[in-house]
Amino acid sequence: MRNHPARLISRKRDGGALTGDEIADLVDGVVDGSLGDAQLGAFLMAVCCNGMAPEETAALTMAMRDSGRVLHHDHIHKPKIDKHSTGGVGDKVSLLLAPLVAAAGVAVPMVSGRGLGHTGGTIDKLASLQGYRTDLSLERFGEVLDRCGYAMLSPSAELAPADRRMYATRDISGTVESIPLITSSILAKKLAEGIDGLVMDVKVGRAAFMTEEHDAVALMEALVATGRLAGIEMSALLTDMDHPLGLAIGNALEVDEVLQALDGSCPDDLREVTLALGVEMLLLAKVANDADAARATLQRLWNDGVVRQVFRDNLELQGGDPRVLDDHSLLGRAPHVVPVEARHAGFVADVDPLALGQLVVDLGGGRRQPSDDVDPHVGVVLRKVMGDQVQTGEVLAFVHARTQAAAVAGAQRVALAMRIGEEKRRRGALIKRRLA
Ligand code: URA
Repeated sequence: MRNHPARLISRKRDGGALTGDEIADLVDGVVDGSLGDAQLGAFLMAVCCNGMAPEETAALTMAMRDSGRVLHHDHIHKPKIDKHSTGGVGDKVSLLLAPLVAAAGVAVPMVSGRGLGHTGGTIDKLASLQGYRTDLSLERFGEVLDRCGYAMLSPSAELAPADRRMYATRDISGTVESIPLITSSILAKKLAEGIDGLVMDVKVGRAAFMTEEHDAVALMEALVATGRLAGIEMSALLTDMDHPLGLAIGNALEVDEVLQALDGSCPDDLREVTLALGVEMLLLAKVANDADAARATLQRLWNDGVVRQVFRDNLELQGGDPRVLDDHSLLGRAPHVVPVEARHAGFVADVDPLALGQLVVDLGGGRRQPSDDVDPHVGVVLRKVMGDQVQTGEVLAFVHARTQAAAVAGAQRVALAMRIGEEKRRRGALIKRRLA
């Protein structure tokens, strides 16, 4: 390191600002190991306590992006736009959105994460498609992107490697909850994909990373401002995570819901969030004049089966078996499926996504530790959602489990997570804010 780390850390501790060069120097030290663990922890805590000016967050983001390979897909003469979600329960949007937007002529290079805790991850969902590979070389990632318009990649050690050490240190030093650190961590990895623009889906609600709207809005504003300072087009939607998205929660069950959606049978909330994010991506890509035109294009491509064909092309290119599109049973199924019945008549007054997300983790469908294996087949499929009328004994949901005992215990937890009331209540707005 050219600068003495203790001097930079104490300036940050005392509320001062660091220059772009100084921040780049610290990030170099993260990667080459010359910044020790104690120094990194102290730096992260200083940022966590004192925040960063927008220019500092942008400098940190770009230094983290430049800590590894930065992809350039110059051979692809299309706008390159991605979407990132801060994570939720039942959020299978990426699986539909990537082929949808690719069908409209935009290239979507998507590096996604694995699930941790109660929120699922796109890579785990894709892993339930037999043979489908997300551990592509970066060269193959570019080829797949060129051939079918989108490509899915699991986190690569070659992209933004500084984030790995920084995130691991944040995790054990009480410094995860910092807007500049979250912003730079998310954007550095996305910027390394070689994108021209990014749409952020910032979730808010009980099962979101940010449970309070003012925190989620602050994150949304920081992401948009930082992305722009780093040279890409940005927009963001604030979307509801006070309820699960769609009906299925659990990896293969969610993929089944996506396959049904490609055939035209899609829950309204999932369709709405997917289309709204798709519209934002087409607007950033400048392939549509306005939101109405973008939505009409996406709906036509979806209805006409073009999106299904793009999904199929990608499936073949990444090693999956395209027969699954016509025969969903190839996804496999958990051995025990138990219905959850309404104990009395009324209206579904609440569906708690956090309780359901935690149940799916306990069934084996998610991770408590990064090294945990995931059972692709377990989960919950809702039959009723908020506001639906139910009769006594009517099926509210099904629990899919490895053992009968786990399925029965799970069904009791689902019954508690789905409250029945006397009055019909509606879910709040799905899309709460837009920043563009
Ligand atoms: N997701 C990330 O990639 N990084 C964070 O810091 C938080 C969420």
